[in-house]
Amino acid sequence: MSLEAEVRRLKEERDAVLLAHNYQRPEVQDVADFVGDSLYLSRKAMEADRRVIVFAGVRFMAETAKILNPQRTVLLPDPKAGCGLADAITAEQLRTWKSEHPGAVVVAYINTSADVKAEADYCCTSSNAVKVVEQVPADREILFLPDMFLGDYVRKKTGRKMHLWVGDCPVHARLRPEDLERARAAHPGAPVIAHPECGCSTQAIPHVDRILSTDGMIRFAEETRAPEVLVATEVGILHRMARLNPGTRFTPIDAGAICPYMKEIDLADVRDSLLHRQYVIDVPDATAERARRALERMVAA
Ligand code: 13P
Ligand code: SF4
Repeated sequence: MSLEAEVRRLKEERDAVLLAHNYQRPEVQDVADFVGDSLYLSRKAMEADRRVIVFAGVRFMAETAKILNPQRTVLLPDPKAGCGLADAITAEQLRTWKSEHPGAVVVAYINTSADVKAEADYCCTSSNAVKVVEQVPADREILFLPDMFLGDYVRKKTGRKMHLWVGDCPVHARLRPEDLERARAAHPGAPVIAHPECGCSTQAIPHVDRILSTDGMIRFAEETRAPEVLVATEVGILHRMARLNPGTRFTPIDAGAICPYMKEIDLADVRDSLLHRQYVIDVPDATAERARRALERMVAA
C-alpha cells in the first residue's frame, strides 16, 4: 500500500483530521483534510469533531489547536517543528517588557509559545493583525510582538502608537528591498505579492501590489489573470498556487526562502504520528486558560 493510502486509511481508523499549513511539503498538503493559513487552521481546529487532530505545521500552531479545542488529542508529527520567530521572545522577557509599560495592551502574533500567549491580551495572525489592533481602545498604548516587520506594517496601516519587539522570522527577514527591486527589473509588469513578515514588506509598500497572509496570497493566485506573479514568502506555497491556477507562472523572489521547521514533517512522519499517537501536544491548564481569551479574540476578529 502506498504511504498516501496508508495515511488516508489511518486517518479513518484513528478518527483523525489532518490539518496542513500552506508551507508544508506538497505530498503532505495533498493528503490533508484542510490546507491553509494560521487563522483558517485555528478555526478548523476549534471546530474539529474528530477525536484526534494531526497538525502538519509547527509547534505554536499545534499548541493553539490544543488550547482552542482541549477535548481533542493534538499530535505534531515531528517535535523538532518549532519556529525561529516564536523563539524570539520568552514569557519572562514579555513580563519584563510589560513592567516597563504599565497599562499597555499586549498584542501577540500567533507565532509565539503558549506561555507568551498567556501573558497577552489579544492574539492575531498575519491575516487579521490590522483588524485586531483597530479593536484596541484608541487611548491605550500597544506592545506588539514578536515580529517587527509585521508590527511596522500594522503601525503604518492603523496609525496607532505601537511599541515593537525586535524579533523577526529568519526565512522572511532575509527578503530585502534590493531583492524585490532586482526581481521587478527582471520581470517587468509582473504583480508582486508579499507576506508581511518579509524584511522588504514595509519599505517596499509602494512597490508591492498586495501584502497578504498566506491564504490571502492563495486567493490572489487563484483569481489573477496575469501571466506571471512574483511571490515573496516561503516557497512551499507555490505548490498550491500552481495547482489552483495553471495558467499563471508563480515566481519566487527568493527560491531559497525555505522554512526548515515546516520541512521537518514528511509523509512518513504523518503516518507514524497516526500509527503511534505521536507527538502529543499538551498545554498546562493554567496556561491554556489564560491564553484562551487572547486566542478567542483572534478567532473572532
Ligand atoms: P500565515 O498565517 O500567513 O499562514 O503565516 C504563518 C507563518 O508562519 C508565516 O511565516
Ligand atoms: Fe516561523 Fe518563519 Fe517558519 Fe513561519 S516561516 S514557521 S515564522 S520560522
